Amino acid sequence: MCGIVGYVGTPGVRSHNALEMVVSGLRRLEYRGYDSAGVALVADAQLWTEKRAGKISNLVEALGGQEVPVSHTGIGHTRWATHGGPTDRNAHPHVSSDSRVAIIHNGIIENFAELREELRETGVVLTSETDSEVAAHLVAAVLPEVDGDLAEALRQVSRRLEGAFTLVAVDADRPDVIVGARRNSPLVVGIGENEAFLASDVAAFIEHTREAIELGQDQVVEVRATGVTVTDFAGNPAEVTPYTIDWDAAAAEKGGYDLFMLKEIAEQPRAVADTLRGRVGRDGRLALDDMRISDAEFREVRKIIVVACGTAFHAGLVAKYAIEHWTRIPCEVELASEFRYRDPIVDARTLVIAVSQSGETMDTLMAMRYAREQGARVLAICNTVGSTMPRESDAVLYTNAGPEIAVASTKAFLTQIVAAYLVGLYLAQVRGNMFGDEIRAIERELEEMPNRVDLVLDTVEGVRALARELADATSVLFIGRHVGFPVALEGALKLKELAYMHAEGFAAGELKHGPIALIEDGVPVVVVMPPKGGRQSLHGKILSNIQEVRARGARTIVIAEEGDESVVPFADHVIRIPPTPTLMQPLVATVPLQVFACEMATARGLDVDQPRNLAKSVTVE
Ligand code: AGP
Repeated sequence: MCGIVGYVGTPGVRSHNALEMVVSGLRRLEYRGYDSAGVALVADAQLWTEKRAGKISNLVEALGGQEVPVSHTGIGHTRWATHGGPTDRNAHPHVSSDSRVAIIHNGIIENFAELREELRETGVVLTSETDSEVAAHLVAAVLPEVDGDLAEALRQVSRRLEGAFTLVAVDADRPDVIVGARRNSPLVVGIGENEAFLASDVAAFIEHTREAIELGQDQVVEVRATGVTVTDFAGNPAEVTPYTIDWDAAAAEKGGYDLFMLKEIAEQPRAVADTLRGRVGRDGRLALDDMRISDAEFREVRKIIVVACGTAFHAGLVAKYAIEHWTRIPCEVELASEFRYRDPIVDARTLVIAVSQSGETMDTLMAMRYAREQGARVLAICNTVGSTMPRESDAVLYTNAGPEIAVASTKAFLTQIVAAYLVGLYLAQVRGNMFGDEIRAIERELEEMPNRVDLVLDTVEGVRALARELADATSVLFIGRHVGFPVALEGALKLKELAYMHAEGFAAGELKHGPIALIEDGVPVVVVMPPKGGRQSLHGKILSNIQEVRARGARTIVIAEEGDESVVPFADHVIRIPPTPTLMQPLVATVPLQVFACEMATARGLDVDQPRNLAKSVTVE
């Protein structure tokens, strides 16, 4: 998954400096992939390129020492390696052997091996190990056959490529145009005043313009400072829907926090409120946007399958308890990367819910495509307007959480749970499983949650101190029951991906079936206590689990609601959360675990926003 930026301005306008525009855009996209970066400019009928392994700062340093030509047309790329390691040679842009065409790419060209062979046979010398390079040579080879029409050349080449790709190209002989092609990987046009942008994410150009066009599947765009032309891969004109980005520039910046992750943790009350906003009518009836599935079809649903990855998968695990409780429809929650390989039972009466912050996660995208092929209706729960999953779904519920830049997902998790709850309530409303006043009561509980999350945020200083105290731990275990179990999984995932520490989440009832052998003197065990007012059996059983691990030397860190004094005798540390109904508790119990992992990574001096080996959206399988 990579960051792509293209820019074309007006000659002679000093501020339309392509290098400045491209590099500043790349900085905004560094979270998308950052193991190498590069730029290509068109100037004086030549291509001028520079690229470096490592972060963008390496590229900027390399640029600093050179005479860079003034140019108003250029492209740039930040890479998350798939084919070929993160080296200077494998960095993008890739240039054709005749030095006329430069290309940058996001995705995977699945038939690149045969194309490399074909190019070798024509005498082309390939200079990298990447799949992307083949596109540069192929476009350059076609150009003479299409009178130098770069867009047509890209269309012809795109028709030959298989897999997922966003390609953006420039031609040394055409300083006034950049072209892009899109299949499965995101590409958005930014329309400015006599200047235009092409990028994988609006964050790249949001400070310059909020007018955007999202490219659709199998489309090619020709971008000039004066306007754009969009066609399909066959060259037929394509309908596009311009939209205005409602994220302001600040929203894509850190807003005064040291870390995007801290900003996004703090944004959670507003994000939860925004997920609810406008969805509950004055009469208490739910109105969900973009529900292109009819009520009759919803009433036909006999099974629900949630497909997702990582944190989104954990949100699905939480939602399962509520959806089954409210709708009485069986709800399976599947790792998207496993789903289509197990020959699942899917038919026209299956509702598949694809949960994804980015809307571009290839594992989840391929799972939902498989489900649709099997006749299922697909509903996307997504945070990114115009991304691929919503475009390919029968219905979508946006989480409206605003940009989530930090690789570790936080506000997306809470808002995905809320959105999934809204879908569950909507199904119950449409199918008549619940009375209006029952639904209204739960809506009121949800509407209370932004304040409860706010309360937790005011009391996390103690969690930060505890994280610093445990910074040298080698492993942390997390246990929970019912909806507390996926919260334990999520807490462990946060610690793994941020502090690079072994962490594992368990259903507390499973401890005695093996994991309790891991307990020895001083092992930190984080316990997610169910609400005291909830099911007594749940609360009582986990209290016993705390005693079992404590008796074996564990250091117990217990997340428990205010007023629950039963845990005090067995807890080395108590983290208090406001009392909430059982199904709502994940929305408050998760927050201390996010802070704990963030602070642990900070104490360890690690890059919290861009942890090693990870990318914000994994657009390869
Ligand atoms: C979670 O902190 C990670 N960033 C990762 O597990 C993420 O949740 C997963 O890759 C799914 O991403 P998506 O929500 O964009 O589909």
